[in-house]
Amino acid sequence: MTKLAMDGGSPVRTDPFPPRKLFGREEREAVTALFDRAETEGHTVLGYNGPEEEAYCREFAEFLGGGFADGVNSGTNAVYVALRAMEVEPLSEVIVPAITDPGGAMPVALCNCLPVPSDGAPGSYNIGAEQIAQRITDKTRAILVAHIAGIPADMDPILELAKKKNLLVIEDCAQAHGAKYKGKFVGTLGDAAAFSTMFGKHHATGGQGGVVFTKNERMYWRIRRYADRGKPFGLENAGGNVVPSLNCNMDELHAAIGRVQLRKLPGIIQRRRRLAKQLIDGCKMLQTMRILEEPADMEAVYWFLLLQLDRPRLNVDVETLTRALQAEGIAATAGYFHVPMWAPWVKHPHAFAPGLHPREWTLPNIRATDADFIKLPLHEDFTRREVDDILTALKKLESAYRK
Ligand SMILES: Cc1ncc(COP(=O)(O)O)c(C=O)c1O
Repeated sequence: MTKLAMDGGSPVRTDPFPPRKLFGREEREAVTALFDRAETEGHTVLGYNGPEEEAYCREFAEFLGGGFADGVNSGTNAVYVALRAMEVEPLSEVIVPAITDPGGAMPVALCNCLPVPSDGAPGSYNIGAEQIAQRITDKTRAILVAHIAGIPADMDPILELAKKKNLLVIEDCAQAHGAKYKGKFVGTLGDAAAFSTMFGKHHATGGQGGVVFTKNERMYWRIRRYADRGKPFGLENAGGNVVPSLNCNMDELHAAIGRVQLRKLPGIIQRRRRLAKQLIDGCKMLQTMRILEEPADMEAVYWFLLLQLDRPRLNVDVETLTRALQAEGIAATAGYFHVPMWAPWVKHPHAFAPGLHPREWTLPNIRATDADFIKLPLHEDFTRREVDDILTALKKLESAYRK
């Protein structure tokens, strides 16, 4: 048996994995063109609510098969604006995912509502209808569903439950640009959707950014108002600022970058899916590990990969296995335990209105799921060599630790 790098053996990989090269000449040219125009036409070319954003939003909506999009300045603010646009009354309860980015749950508190975490579906990082149903009370008004790691949540039962209980559904597609559920793009299934377009996402508008999407035109105009301090977009004869909100606007530079990136998005998705498939298929040779795969009726876009361990058949805990993988040169991390409702902010005395502090929720499914998973890196600039190195390292670890 080959000696593990952790025990002094040679690592599978000694040189770093390739960096992600998301931005390039075309993005630079789009930005330079805007600056060139600003020099001749004036500074408003670099403003906001302008033609670049209009085009980006139209193209974004076309990508999703039609609807309405509004550019904002982060994924967190996309969630905030989508929620505000639902006009959920203060002190309502909003179901949030057990596992999500803080920006996928905190906006609920900032809307003067109570975030209530749903547990995950068994064996999944996504929430499921059965677990959501257990959290619904007569104060619940909306459900926030995140498609974690680019794998769609099982939306049909969630939508059915929402319909039955008269609840609004916001899809958080920050990690799932272009993923499909039963042939339909995620983000088109609920009442509105929030996308993050910060630089780590499938397509980006620069360092930061986000998009709010809906198929409902009335909702769209509310989104516009709440994204820009309540300006009376879509209202006839209304003057002044009609609702209280923040300035969440995207600007023209970010929209110009986003337009280039949207053209690249299908290729990015295709390459990620191909690499993920090679790794998933490669892992099928192993007895004790598998990579979480899209269910038969879904198309995942794999923001990262989740390696599931058959722990009873391994002589090692997740942390040690992760360290062993890292020693082999693979940037793995143990689990993906991002539980915003267990973070210190929830207990901050000013986080919620008096009397509205959330109770402490237990989330047994998510805890159990996370104990079996390792997060593996993936991006579209990986090559067959990175795939082979990951598989070689996994094989090496399996032969070292298999019972
Ligand atoms: C599921 C989810 N929701 C919301 C966000 C927040 O997006 P942003 O970082 O653009 O504010 C993220 C960011 O990674 C996310 O993954």
